[in-house]
Amino acid sequence: MISFASVGVESMAIYKKDLSPDPFKQFIKWYTDVHDLGVFEYDAMTLATATLSGRPSCRTVLLKSVTDGFIFHTNYESRKGIELAKNPQAAAVFYWKEVGRQVRIEGRVTKISREESAAYFARRPRESQIGAVASFQDRPLSSREELEEAFVRVSSRYEDQEVPIPNYWGGYSLIPECFEFWEAREHRLHDRFEYTKSSNGWVIQRLSP
Ligand SMILES: Cc1cc2nc3c(=O)[nH]c(=O)nc-3n(C[C@H](O)[C@H](O)[C@H](O)COP(=O)(O)O)c2cc1C
Repeated sequence: MISFASVGVESMAIYKKDLSPDPFKQFIKWYTDVHDLGVFEYDAMTLATATLSGRPSCRTVLLKSVTDGFIFHTNYESRKGIELAKNPQAAAVFYWKEVGRQVRIEGRVTKISREESAAYFARRPRESQIGAVASFQDRPLSSREELEEAFVRVSSRYEDQEVPIPNYWGGYSLIPECFEFWEAREHRLHDRFEYTKSSNGWVIQRLSP
């Protein structure tokens, strides 16, 4: 047994029989656990993309929903957007240190529909909508003031109006081809299970830690 005192959780070894045959269901179970325990930024995932020549880059994004893919929103003209346009292969990792769990995902990324992106944008707080219009993610700024002035300009442009979704902003879906679930155990004898897609469904394999 291993104890995660900060969230009052004690955890036992995992066996294959304890896992859902469906990795999406297994993910939702672990995701719900950290949500319910109040883990800070439980929805943050590190997303890795790469250029066509294989130069990797990674950054944190927030998971917004899970369908047949893991959905996040961003600026399509950002570095990640530019890399994904040429090379849709990506990987993501969640690490929830409060419960000693990690989930890795690898797959291909596609843009979600314009309607879905617009529906999500419309639900965001107005200030975040204005921020998305005012910030050209990744472009150099001469000063903090330049950004704040852009925010004020955009706020007054849309006074008493809805802020429209910028055409360079929207959602992506990372559609997994494999998952890995990892949980910390004593003596570094951690539990690791890989799910890979086959023609008969998902195949689960225990991996050496
Ligand atoms: C906790 C956290 C959550 C973030 N969530 C997002 C997000 O959902 N979308 C996004 O575009 N950037 C998000 N960011 C900022 C990105 O990590 C990154 O700085 C930005 O997207 C530019 O990345 P890029 O130049 O690799 O495209 C987040 C950063 C942190 C630390």
